[in-house]
Amino acid sequence: MPRKIIIDTDPGQDDAVAILLALASPDEIDLLGVTAVAGNVPLELTAKNARIVCELAGHTDVPVYAGCDRPLNRPLVTAEHVHGKTGLDGPVLPDPQMPLAQGHAVDFIIDTLRAHEPGTVTLCPLGPLTNIATAFTKAPDIVDRVQEIVLMGGAYFEVGNITPAAEFNIYVDPEAADIVFKSGAHIVVMPLDVTHDALVTPHRNDAFRALDSKVGHAVAEMTDFFERFDKEKYGSEGAPLHDPCVTAYLIRPELFSGRHINVEIETQSELTLGMTVADWWRVTDRPANAMFMGSVDAQGFFDLLTERLARL
Ligand code: RIB
Ligand code: CA
Repeated sequence: MPRKIIIDTDPGQDDAVAILLALASPDEIDLLGVTAVAGNVPLELTAKNARIVCELAGHTDVPVYAGCDRPLNRPLVTAEHVHGKTGLDGPVLPDPQMPLAQGHAVDFIIDTLRAHEPGTVTLCPLGPLTNIATAFTKAPDIVDRVQEIVLMGGAYFEVGNITPAAEFNIYVDPEAADIVFKSGAHIVVMPLDVTHDALVTPHRNDAFRALDSKVGHAVAEMTDFFERFDKEKYGSEGAPLHDPCVTAYLIRPELFSGRHINVEIETQSELTLGMTVADWWRVTDRPANAMFMGSVDAQGFFDLLTERLARL
């Protein structure tokens, strides 16, 4: 029985690969809809990019909704320096033909959770948590209806990628993250601690190219663009595929391991704003509220990803 999910996203090349992996896995994932949020680039572009990706996969049947265009209480911080001006730099892809679905993404999230049996819809945020926090605040009754939240965000051992202390998705909207992490929903976190091991080495990117398909070439070209930032900054071997770790977890959770611990969000200090304070060593008696992943079988992840992308 495929798992019903909503992907909330700010595409972003890695978001794009996460969406493609979901669309390539209909036996495990029933993608009810995609909700765009402002993050890597402004909302108009993330909403456009989400449609570009669905069309690339030949899935114009998936509704794409536009959501919040800025964080709850702060100005938007974007990441063109990583993802390029369009947010999807790398491949040359046609503008979307499919229209945006009517209505606000937050209302789609609320209506969908209310329409399906409690505990049967999973939320997969891949960007700032503004849409999710807004939905939870507007309709508190939906929190208990969420099967699970599987999100990409935060960091503990890897610390920050946008500031010395904070990972981008959490940093952009720390108040939204605080609402989500305190909501009581079951949360699985894919932090930089995991995603920095999911690196697209040249060999792995050649495997994408060797698929010799529209999707294979597009993913390889996205990676060629997207890897510059991390290779320069971290000296890493290739682009970290952050967001596809979320989709891969839904398909093969055994690829990942972590700890059920307390995770709280810094929302006051300018110095450490957006830090995910993860009690990995359980040095406090703060209650566990998240399954915080710490490691991934990187080759297993890439074998799965490559095999699935070959289907598109
Ligand atoms: O810090 C990495 C996260 O920020 C990823 O989701 C990437 O797409 C950006 O949104
Ligand atoms: Ca993202």
